Amino acid sequence: MTRDDMKKMAAEAALEYVEAGSVVGVGTGSTANHFIDALAGIKHRIDGAVASSEATAERLRSHGILVMDLNEVVELPVYVDGADESNRYLQLIKGGGGALTREKIVAAASRTFVCVADDSKLVDILGAFPLPIEVIPMARSYVAREIVKLGGQPVLREGFTTDNGNIILDVHNMQIMEPAKLETALNQIAGVVTNGLFANRPADVLLLGGEDGVTKLT
Ligand code: 5RP
Repeated sequence: MTRDDMKKMAAEAALEYVEAGSVVGVGTGSTANHFIDALAGIKHRIDGAVASSEATAERLRSHGILVMDLNEVVELPVYVDGADESNRYLQLIKGGGGALTREKIVAAASRTFVCVADDSKLVDILGAFPLPIEVIPMARSYVAREIVKLGGQPVLREGFTTDNGNIILDVHNMQIMEPAKLETALNQIAGVVTNGLFANRPADVLLLGGEDGVTKLT
C-alpha cells in the first residue's frame, strides 16, 4: 500500500463526520483532495463547502459542489484537512502547501476539526518538518532575524506567493517542546500573518491511514 492509498483511506473515513444539510469546511493538499473527491459522492446531501484555498475551491467547483464565502455561513459543523505533522495531543504543523492562514481561519470557525493523514505524520515532537510562517513581504528580513533569535533557521520558499499575496518562511531545526507557547510567540512578531502551528486550536479527531486500516485518535 502506498502513502497515497493511506491518505485516501483516512480521507474517505472522514465522510462519516459530514452532517446532512450542512456546509463543510475543506482543507488543502493531497489528502484534502481525496476528501473532496469522496465528498463529491454525497454532494446532494450537503448545502455547500467553504474552501481554505483557491486550489481547493477550484477542485470543489469541478465536482459541482457549491463554494461559499465563510462570511455567508453561520455554522460550520466540520472542517476536514490534512497535516504535515501531528503529535499525540493532535497539535499540528500545517502549511506545507502554503495555505496555512486560510486553513487556520476555517479551522477556528468550525465546531469539529477532523484531521486526515497517513500514519507517517504522527510524531513525538513537532518540528522535523520545517514550520511554515506566512509573512507580509516588506517584513521578510525583520521577521527572519526575530526567528533566528528564537532558535530557528528561516528559509524563504522561493517562487511562492500565498493566496493572500504574501511570502512563506520555512523554519528549520526547531524542536518544538511547547507548541502553544511558540505559536503565540511567533504570532506576536510584527509582519507575521500566522504560523503553521495549530496548537492553541488543535484537531479534535485525527484519522490516520496505515497498513492495518484507519486509526482514530481523539
Ligand atoms: C497545506 C497543508 C496540508 O494539509 C499539508 O501540507 C499536508 O499535505 P498533504 O495532504 O498533501 O500531505 O497544510 O497548506
